[in-house]
Amino acid sequence: MADSVKAPHENWSSRTAFIFAAIGSAVGLGNIWKFPFEAGEGGGGAFVLIYLAFVFGIGVPVMIAELALGRRGHMSPPNAVKKVAQQESRSPLWSVAGWIGVIGAFMVLSFYSVIAGFTLSYMVDSFSGSLSSLRPDNSEAYFNGVTQNFSLILAWHIIFMGITIAVVARGIRGGLEKAVTWLMPVLFAILLLLVAYSLYVGDAAETFRFLLEPDWTEVDLETVIQALGQAFFSLSLALGAIMAYGAYVPKDVSLSRSAFIIAGADTGVAILAGLAIFPIVFQYGLEPGAGPGLVFITLPIAFAQMPGGLFVGGAFFLLLGIAALTSAISLLEPLVAWLEESKGISRVQSAIGGGVSIFILGMGTVLSFNHWSDFTFWRGTIFDNIDFLTNNIMMPMGGLIIALFVGWRMRRISVRDELSTMSDFGFRLWLIMLRYVCPLALMLIFVGYAFKGVLFGDG
Ligand code: PHE
Repeated sequence: MADSVKAPHENWSSRTAFIFAAIGSAVGLGNIWKFPFEAGEGGGGAFVLIYLAFVFGIGVPVMIAELALGRRGHMSPPNAVKKVAQQESRSPLWSVAGWIGVIGAFMVLSFYSVIAGFTLSYMVDSFSGSLSSLRPDNSEAYFNGVTQNFSLILAWHIIFMGITIAVVARGIRGGLEKAVTWLMPVLFAILLLLVAYSLYVGDAAETFRFLLEPDWTEVDLETVIQALGQAFFSLSLALGAIMAYGAYVPKDVSLSRSAFIIAGADTGVAILAGLAIFPIVFQYGLEPGAGPGLVFITLPIAFAQMPGGLFVGGAFFLLLGIAALTSAISLLEPLVAWLEESKGISRVQSAIGGGVSIFILGMGTVLSFNHWSDFTFWRGTIFDNIDFLTNNIMMPMGGLIIALFVGWRMRRISVRDELSTMSDFGFRLWLIMLRYVCPLALMLIFVGYAFKGVLFGDG
C-alpha cells in the first residue's frame, strides 16, 4: 500500500445504522421516479417480474461481492480493491473496479442533484398552491417552464449539493448515520400515508390488475436490458456507494443477510411507489406509460384536482427529495473517503472540494435543459451523455469486473472468511451465480447495446 494512504476510517456504530444507510442509498429517484415509469412502459406486471428476477438473481449476488470487497479492503473503493488484490497476489489493475465507482458516482451525482432540485422546486410549488392551475393541456409546458428557468434550477442545484456536502463533511457517525436515522423513518411514514391515501381515493382495482397481470406484448429485449440496468441503479451497485459503505461494516455483521434486507426494502419501496402513483393515474384517466414525465408532468395534474391534492403533492415531492438526499450522500462518500486517504486532506475539505467539483460538472446538466439544450452530440445533451455513460456502460462494466474479481480471482478462503455466516449451500449457490450467471447477464447489456441498431432499428 502506498505510504501516502492514511489509516482506515471509523465504522458504523451498529448493524442497524449500516442497514439504514444502505437502504437510504438504494432508495432514491430510481425507485420513485424511474421504476414506476419504466414499469408503466414495460407492460406493468411483466416488467415487475423480470425486474424481481434481476434484483435477486443478479443484483443481490453482486451486492454481496461488493460489500465483501469493501469490508476486506476497509478503505475507499479504489484503495480497497487495490489492497485486496495485493493480498490475493493479483494485479493492482483490478482497482479499476474502484475507480469506475468513484468516477461513476461523481458523474451520477452531478445530474442526480439537478433532478433532485426539480423535485424540491415542485415541492415548494405544490405546498404554495402554484400547481393548482395544472391541467392535462398545460402540465408539460409548466414542467418545461421549470427546467428552462436557468436560475431557478441552478439555485436548487446549489441548495441540494450544499446539504449533501454538509452531511458528508460531518463524517460517518456524526453525519451519514445521523441523517439516515432521522430521514428514513420519515420517508417510510410519508410513503405509507401516500399509498393509503392513493388506494383510497384512486383506482385500486385497476392498479392491482396492472401490476399483477403481466402484459407480455410490451416486453422485448430492450425491456429486459432496461430492467437489468434499473436493478443495478436501484440497488446502488457498481458505483462505489455500496463498496464504500461495506468498508465501515463491523466484522460480525452478516453481509449476505444484509444484502437481502437492503434489496428487499429497496424493491418494497419501488412497488409501494407504484401503489402510490398508479391508482391516481388510473383514477384520473392519465397514461401509465407516460415515460420520464410521469412524476413531474402526469401526476401533478391529479394533485391539482384531488381533494387536498396540493398538500399530498407537496408531501410526495418531499418524499422524493429525502430519498434523493440519502442516495446523494452515498454518491459523494466514495470520493471523499478517497481524498481523505490518498491526498491526506481533512474530511471537511474533501467534502467541500469534492462536492464543489461535482456541482461544477452538474452545471452541464443544468444547462442541458435550457441555454445548451441545442448543444447535442453522440447520445444527445450533456445530461443524456452522462446518463448513458454511467447507466449503460460504467455500471455494467463495474459490476462485471467486481463479479470476475471476487468470483474468479480471490482465494476461496478469503471470500469465505468475509461470508462466514452463510451456509455451505448458500455460499456455493452464490458463487455459481457470481461466477457464471452475473457475468453472462452483464455481458448481455453490452451485446444488446452493440447490436442495438440491428435489434431495435435505431442507433
Ligand atoms: N440507488 C439510487 C436510486 O435508486 C441511485 C444510486 C445509484 C445511488 C448508485 C448510489 C449509487 O436512486
